[in-house]
Amino acid sequence: HRHLLALQGLEPPYIAELLDLAESYALLNRGGKAQRDLLRGRTLINLFFEDSTRTRTSFELAGKRLGADVINMSVSTSSVNKGETLLDTAATLNAMQTDLLVIRHSQSGAPALLSQKVDAGVINAGDGTHEHPTQALLDALTIRRRKGTLENLTVAICGDVLHSRVARSNIHLLLAMNCRVRIVGPPTLIPAEAEALGVEVFHDMRAGLKDADVVMMLRLQKERMQGGLVPSAREFFRFYGLDAAKLRHAKPDAIVMHPGPMNRGVEIDSAIADDPARSVIGEQVEMGVAVRMAVLDVLAQNRRRNS
Ligand code: CP
Repeated sequence: HRHLLALQGLEPPYIAELLDLAESYALLNRGGKAQRDLLRGRTLINLFFEDSTRTRTSFELAGKRLGADVINMSVSTSSVNKGETLLDTAATLNAMQTDLLVIRHSQSGAPALLSQKVDAGVINAGDGTHEHPTQALLDALTIRRRKGTLENLTVAICGDVLHSRVARSNIHLLLAMNCRVRIVGPPTLIPAEAEALGVEVFHDMRAGLKDADVVMMLRLQKERMQGGLVPSAREFFRFYGLDAAKLRHAKPDAIVMHPGPMNRGVEIDSAIADDPARSVIGEQVEMGVAVRMAVLDVLAQNRRRNS
């Protein structure tokens, strides 16, 4: 594969190869022994048209730990503000012999479009409501480390599934790796195509969480909602916010995940988010660097083979 645009349709052995390599980078990172020259002389550009803390920073760290020259292009101070189109921006970066282009964009499909126009390997860092592949990979790595396997686990993905590219990427990955996937949320925040994807749909948190191994909470994405349809935070928390009472329905050793950024007191109670016995949110962030190192490594190797 030259690019990482989506997890839908990716072969399970390729996903497993990325996770295995990421696991080895996770161990090297903890020992402070990353390979600092694997990507020496390679250029990585972060092109984020939407805000980010975790994804952008971890791609920067991942690139630097492997020795790449990393450039964070500030879209808000770029010529995009003078009306330059996405494709003209991409052509400009292409002319600078960029090796890897990491893009986040509000339009679903923007990274795929770009990948047809540039020579660089393109990595989707989140496109609209479509996919966020490296997030699902880091989630899978975190689950695998905690549970020892992905096979036959029951994973409940809860909240605003409709607007969530994180949920879509996770659904594709987890089903490919033989998990049982449930999605739990109010009917207004469940996508119409959900059951066709092969997941079970629940509108009641207690039923959806029953005997789950993994409880994955999602951010309520108000910025993607029409004004009139935004649920009130208090009402949402009462029915769909994860608190101790609802979590009691999952398995006693169930782990709690959240991709971040969190709305505390909206989709998750602070006491759960900060509970070291249940929450693996910090480990998700740590695995984000390892997963992105693995993705950069594999795509750079594939470029070498193709050039
Ligand atoms: N989970 C995630 O994508 O976080 P950022 O928006 O901070 O990158």
